[in-house]
Amino acid sequence: MTEHLATHNDPLACAEARIRAIIAGSAVPEDPPHAENTLQWLLRLVPDADPALRLAALGHDIDRAVPDKVRREDFDDYDAFKAAHAEHGARILARLLAECGVPVPLIKDTCRLVERHEIGGDPRSDLLKDADSLSYFEVNLPLYLAREGEAETLRRCRWGVRRLSANARQRLARMHFADPRQAAIVRQALETERGGAAKAPSSLADK
Ligand SMILES: [Fe+2]
Repeated sequence: MTEHLATHNDPLACAEARIRAIIAGSAVPEDPPHAENTLQWLLRLVPDADPALRLAALGHDIDRAVPDKVRREDFDDYDAFKAAHAEHGARILARLLAECGVPVPLIKDTCRLVERHEIGGDPRSDLLKDADSLSYFEVNLPLYLAREGEAETLRRCRWGVRRLSANARQRLARMHFADPRQAAIVRQALETERGGAAKAPSSLADK
């Protein structure tokens, strides 16, 4: 009964709690800290980020936490896999947000951001892409390296660097890595991809 009332009294709190509960069940150990850290990066880039951006930051990878998640092995192309992952996450969130009573325009905005979180294309989805990518380096990289090895991690890091705006690349270059192997991979990825920074998301990102 309490939960039912909370759902209707505070749709955003309901949505955040349900997103966190689903991601907590992910089989991938870095998923819960990555969701929180992506939100933290968003708020570092834009302290007054709007509710749709905050929900999208927290829930952008919700697809990875559900039993029928999109699987890498079903795709030859990495970008096609990522696009399917983003679309599936948006569909999951649309249902979840509606069940919490989130207003329809906010649902549509949040889901559009999640659909574009891998590719950006406008100032707000570019910010989400930057926050997501910076969080990969801060939170996911150590576990990814332990699981996938150096060659695959370098490939993933180069892909991650290519997604970053110039502003976010500067933040990555200043990031500290305690493990010298991680530091070397990130340095190599930054050097290899130098010169091709994604367009800066917006002046908001320089706040
Ligand atoms: Fe992510």
